[in-house]
Amino acid sequence: MNILLNPGPVLLTKRVRESLLKPDLCHRESEFVELQNKIRSKLLDVYKLSAEKWAAVIFTGSGTSAMESMITSLIPMHGKLLIIENGVYGERMTKIAKIHDINHIVLHHEWGEEINLDNLNNELQYHDEISHVAIVHHETTTGRLNNIEKIASVCKKHGDISLLVDAVSSFGAEELKFNEWNITACASTANKCLHGVPGASFVIANRDAVSSMSATPARTLYLNFIDYLDAQDNNKTPFTQSIQTFYALHEALEELFEQGGWKNRQKKYQNLIGLVRTEFENLKIKPCLKRNESSCVLNSFYLPKEISYQKLHDELKKDGFIIYAGQGGLKKSFFRISCMGDIFEDDIKRFLSAIKKIVV
Ligand SMILES: Cc1ncc(COP(=O)(O)O)c(C=O)c1O
Repeated sequence: MNILLNPGPVLLTKRVRESLLKPDLCHRESEFVELQNKIRSKLLDVYKLSAEKWAAVIFTGSGTSAMESMITSLIPMHGKLLIIENGVYGERMTKIAKIHDINHIVLHHEWGEEINLDNLNNELQYHDEISHVAIVHHETTTGRLNNIEKIASVCKKHGDISLLVDAVSSFGAEELKFNEWNITACASTANKCLHGVPGASFVIANRDAVSSMSATPARTLYLNFIDYLDAQDNNKTPFTQSIQTFYALHEALEELFEQGGWKNRQKKYQNLIGLVRTEFENLKIKPCLKRNESSCVLNSFYLPKEISYQKLHDELKKDGFIIYAGQGGLKKSFFRISCMGDIFEDDIKRFLSAIKKIVV
C-alpha cells in the first residue's frame, strides 16, 4: 500500500478500516441514532466543549459541505460577513457567500501571506455593520496556520463579532480555543486529522448563534444546519446518512481518545514533520514558510532545482510514496507533505531515503 503524504484522505488504521464492515443499518433505527449521538458527543469531547452550550451536527459530504452549511446557515439576513483570504480555502468561502447571495466583503491576501491585523482592524472599524468574520485555521494551500488568537482579539475590540472557522485540516491536531476565541462555529471533516474515512463532515456551533437565526429564511435545503440540528437533537436525521463512514468516524474518535487526544496527535505530527524539515534542510529543499508559521499537519516546500513536480511525484510513487502538488500558480514551483494518518517515523525515514536518491 502506498504511504499517503497528501492532506487527506489519510492512511487508515486497520481498526478504522475494519469498522466499515459492521452490520448494515437503517438510518431510521435506534442503532443508528445511538451511533449518531455517540459521534456528536465525542466530537464535542475532542475540545472538551459542553453540550449545553455547543452542538455538533454531522453531514454526509466532504469538508466543503460543512463549510457551505456553516456559511449559509449561521449568518442572519441582517448580518454581514467579512471573509479573510490567504489561500484556496478562504477564497472558497467567498465563492460560497457569492453563490448564496450572502452580504459580504473580503480581506484578501496573497496565498501564504500572514494575515495583516492592522488591515483587519481598519476594515472592522470602517464597516461597523460586520457581524461575522470567516477564517481558515490551517490554510492547506501553503500549510500556514493562521493565528486565530490574534484575529479573535482584533474582532473582540469591535464588539460582538462572531468567528466562523474552517478547521477542516486542523480539527483534532491543532489548538482550538472555542470559548476564549469567541468562535461561533467551526466546520471540519472526518478524513483529515481525525483519521476517518472521506464522506462525513461536521459543524460545531454555539447554540446561541443558532437561536439568532430564527427569523432568517433557509438558504439551502440539503445543508441547512438548523434543520439538521433540530433533527439530530431529536434522534433523527433529515436525509439518508452514509452509515459506513459514520462507523469509521466513531472508531477513529475512539482511537484518538485512546491515543491521548488532540495534544498527542499534535506531538506526533510535529515530530514527523520535524524529521522531514530537518532532512530537507540537508538536501537543500527549502520550506516555503518558517516552522512557527506552519501547521504541524502539512508543510510546503520549493521543488528542488531542475526537478519537475511530475518527475518527483512519479519517482516517489514508484517507491510507494504519494506527495502532493501545489495548487493553481504554485504547481510549478512547489510541493506539499502531510503527516496525517497511520504513518510512523519508519515510514518517514524510508520516504526521506527515497527522496534523497532522487535529489542528490
Ligand atoms: C482548509 C480546508 N478547507 C476545506 C477543504 C475542502 O475539503 P473537501 O475537499 O473535503 O471538501 C480542505 C481540503 O483539503 C481544506 O484543507
